[in-house]
Amino acid sequence: MIMHRQNPFELFEKYYAKILEDKQNTLSNAVNLATVSADGQPSNRTVLLKEWDEQGFVFYTNLTSRKGEEIANNAKVSLCFYWTKLDVQVRVEGVCEQVSDAQADAYFDSRPIESRAGAWASKQSQPLKSHAYLLKRVAKAGLKLPLGKMHRPDFWSGFRVVPQRIEFMQMKDYRLHERRSFELVEGDWQEGLLYP
Ligand SMILES: Cc1cc2nc3c(=O)[nH]c(=O)nc-3n(C[C@H](O)[C@H](O)[C@H](O)COP(=O)(O)O)c2cc1C
Repeated sequence: MIMHRQNPFELFEKYYAKILEDKQNTLSNAVNLATVSADGQPSNRTVLLKEWDEQGFVFYTNLTSRKGEEIANNAKVSLCFYWTKLDVQVRVEGVCEQVSDAQADAYFDSRPIESRAGAWASKQSQPLKSHAYLLKRVAKAGLKLPLGKMHRPDFWSGFRVVPQRIEFMQMKDYRLHERRSFELVEGDWQEGLLYP
C-alpha cells in the first residue's frame, strides 16, 4: 500500500480555501510578519498575503520601510496566521526573496488608482508631520502621475517568503492541540508532531 504523505502546501490550501469561503471576513489574507533588526530586535506587523504557491508566500511593501530595510539586512523572517473560524494557527519560517519586476508590476497595476498614488506618496515608516500632509502628498502624486503613468515606484515591490519550516496547529479541547510540523530537509518535506 502506498502511504500518502501530505505536503504542507496541500494542507495550507485545504485550510485557506475554507477561510476564503468566508465572504464576511474581508481580511482573511491578513498575516503577521516578523523581521529582525541588525541589533537583533524582532518586530512584527500585519501584511496581506497576495499570492502563494509551492515557491512561497508573497506580500507587497515599501522597500525603504522598516521591514524592507530589515529584510535587506537579514532575509530570515517568519509569518503567523491565526484563523479564528477554524481555530487554526499556521507558522511559516523562511527566507525572503524579492519577486520579479514583472510580477510586482502586474500586482501594482491591478491596484486601485488611490492605492497606487498612496504608494508613491508614502515614505513608509518615516516620521510624518501630520495626516493632512500625507493626504496632500497623495493628491500631488495623483496630479503629477495621471493614470497612464502611475507605474510602480522602484522603492515598492513584493517579497516571497520561501519556507523552510511550516507548522499547523489545530486547536483541540483542554489545550491538547495538534501541532504538525513540516521541515524542509535536503529538498524533502519531513513531517513530525510536536507537543502542544
Ligand atoms: C490589515 C492590515 C493589512 C496590512 N497590509 C499591509 C501590506 O500588505 N503591506 C504593507 O507594507 N503594510 C501593510 N499594513 C501596514 C503594516 O502593518 C505596517 O504598519 C506598515 O507596513 C509599516 O511597517 P514597518 O514600519 O514595520 O515597515 C497592513 C496593516 C493592516 C492592519
